[in-house]
Amino acid sequence: MTTRDIDLLSLDLHTYDPEPVYEYLREEEPLYWDAKNELWAVSRYDDVIFASKNTDIFCSGQGVVPGVGLEDWPDEAMINLDGHAHTRQRGLVSKGFTPRRMADLEQHARDIVVELVNKVQSVGKCDVVKDLARPLPMQLIAEMLGYPKDMYNTVLDWTDTFTQGGCGQACITDEVVEAFSNFCMFHMQLLEERKQNPGDDLLSTWLNAELDGDKLSEDKLLYEHNLLLVGGSETTRNAISGGFLQLIRHPKQRQHLIDTPDALPNAIEEIVRWATPFVRMARTLTQDYSLHGREMKKGQQIVMMYPAANRDPRAFDNPQVFDIHRDFKRPSLSFGYGKHFCLGASLARLELKVMFEEVLQRIPDMQLDPDNEVVPHPSCFIRGLESLPVTFTAV
Ligand code: HEM
Repeated sequence: MTTRDIDLLSLDLHTYDPEPVYEYLREEEPLYWDAKNELWAVSRYDDVIFASKNTDIFCSGQGVVPGVGLEDWPDEAMINLDGHAHTRQRGLVSKGFTPRRMADLEQHARDIVVELVNKVQSVGKCDVVKDLARPLPMQLIAEMLGYPKDMYNTVLDWTDTFTQGGCGQACITDEVVEAFSNFCMFHMQLLEERKQNPGDDLLSTWLNAELDGDKLSEDKLLYEHNLLLVGGSETTRNAISGGFLQLIRHPKQRQHLIDTPDALPNAIEEIVRWATPFVRMARTLTQDYSLHGREMKKGQQIVMMYPAANRDPRAFDNPQVFDIHRDFKRPSLSFGYGKHFCLGASLARLELKVMFEEVLQRIPDMQLDPDNEVVPHPSCFIRGLESLPVTFTAV
């Protein structure tokens, strides 16, 4: 077996043509040891499921960002909890994301998209990321969190900045720290207001909640708020922009969706598989454990490589092909698997549905703007585009 030196926390690796490396990992070193970052990685579909499912061996309780322990970042959000503590904390907000709640939200989400499309339709060009994909998820999660409208853009700018910290210790720059401090101050102010005037928002829910008789600590409130904000605002945009890019590249598939809207739900699953907005989540070994002939030690970290698993030929026929007609025998792992399966998956799917339905009907001839480049977002945490400039017939 050959061993290559692969820096799993390299931003470039996951941003520019990662598939040859992912294929190497899947086929040659399905359990990979990255000596530089002291990190294991699994890249096959079944191994990502195995690590997600066996929370007694691979726990979330030491954090899910590689190289950033809870002693550096005392984050008590649900994503960093295991067992009962996780279930009860997740239960506080999960009822806000039921299919029924999403059905109630659909018309409102559609109204937001209509307004966004109205702003660009007469211009004949736009940046899909800036004008469509970025604002929709933020507006919806900001409303659920009860933000004042005039703060949406400011908070989103901070969030875009501090989410870079998810790339690991080396990316926690002064700018990241400053953006997070701004968010913390905003959180404290908002909390004070909610204490005076509780509302029908997630912050009020957390403030009034009790976990086995105890109120949520100040830290828990802050980090739970941060998790919902990041999950809500930084992810779906990449499936939206990645999806439009693929449909521009595959005009027959796009035309099929325009003519046959019933095909959209399956297309959305393929878009989510193709885009795979999260590169990975980490777990910590609770015991020594052997896999693929290698022994991992208790306390070491392992990452689950979602984009590599989503191109695993063991789980998907022709995984390198974008195909909205794909016959999914197994679901993509973009939303994770098991107990920490994405809480916001139903919201993300709703956002994708209304966005693609409206834009495909109203801007059916979107093309890449020949004068401006598609710009990827360099990250080893969140995969996506910084800019997707397009042109179309102005109406
Ligand atoms: C396409 C968009 C999205 C993708 C690809 C995505 C992906 C993921 C993944 C992979 C996990 C699993 C984490 C783990 O196992 O450690 C997760 C968890 C989570 N996601 Fe999402 N997410 C998306 C949208 C959203 C949205 C819109 C929200 C907003 C509410 C959200 C909130 C969460 C939360 C709160 C968790 C933690 C759940 C838990 O620990 O029980 N996500 N997401």
